[in-house]
Amino acid sequence: MGHSELSSNEGFTDLLELIEESLSFATSSYNNAYLDRRISARMRRCRIDDYESYEALLRDDTDEQNALLDSLSVNVTSFFRNPKVWESLRDVLAELTASGHTRVWSAACSDGREAYSLAMLAHDDDRIDPANVEILGTDIKPKILRAARHGEYRSSETNDLTEQLSPLDDYERYIERDGKKVQVTDEVRELVSFRNHDLVQETPPQTFDLVLCRNLFIYINSDAKRAIFETLGSALVPDGFLTIGMTETIPPSCRERFEPVEKRLRIYRNDVGESNS
Ligand SMILES: C[S@@+](CC[C@H](N)C(=O)[O-])C[C@H]1O[C@@H](n2cnc3c(N)ncnc32)[C@H](O)[C@@H]1O
Repeated sequence: MGHSELSSNEGFTDLLELIEESLSFATSSYNNAYLDRRISARMRRCRIDDYESYEALLRDDTDEQNALLDSLSVNVTSFFRNPKVWESLRDVLAELTASGHTRVWSAACSDGREAYSLAMLAHDDDRIDPANVEILGTDIKPKILRAARHGEYRSSETNDLTEQLSPLDDYERYIERDGKKVQVTDEVRELVSFRNHDLVQETPPQTFDLVLCRNLFIYINSDAKRAIFETLGSALVPDGFLTIGMTETIPPSCRERFEPVEKRLRIYRNDVGESNS
């Protein structure tokens, strides 16, 4: 079904309302095509082919409610995702810490590997004093935040952790191995804390010198996207840095605020002109 057909399909819009109101998942922030792909996949698993019957099932079946919520959030992540970006983030972190205490926000952090990559960089780079680095990871999914706090990850065919950690000089220093599992060491975990935060509905937890908000915009609608860029802008100190995902773009109405530092790598600087400050 096309975008416009979806938004005028009563069964589909009623279903979204139920998900928003009873399951507290902000469907109105996501694009319909994305929501439909995820919901239809659940419907196929339940052998249901119309939205009305799926809504009836969802009302009473808590297992299905949890399965749907799980499938609605995409948690794909890795250590040092897009390594080229991390070469520049290393320099950004060195520059920031040279002038003192540096606060970093990994917004929509998934299972924490992005936040821990920052902490590992802080230990790995001679120019950086880890004591100057404080990292906050946030996400809307409590289950994934529990995994993040635990800091334990498993290698698989599609998830080669050793390969992911290769941008570090000596990655063995930052992990303890147990078969296919690796646990991030205490010295790395000490730099990072995690908490629940909804980027669409909440104001920033505090202000930061560097904010990473990557690979969330790809499945969010344009109103929510603008709202999140407002949040990110207000989370940055003047001249603070922002990084978004390599395939993501800043909406035209928010571009003035963020001055490209490395456009191709999606690294920007908060450009609060005199009229805004
Ligand atoms: C694909 S992951 C990105 C993880 C990491 N930033 C990266 O680039 O590898 C997207 C994450 O966004 C989170 N998310 C979705 N909607 C959100 C919201 N409104 N506020 C905060 N996090 C959200 C999901 O739970 C998921 O963990």
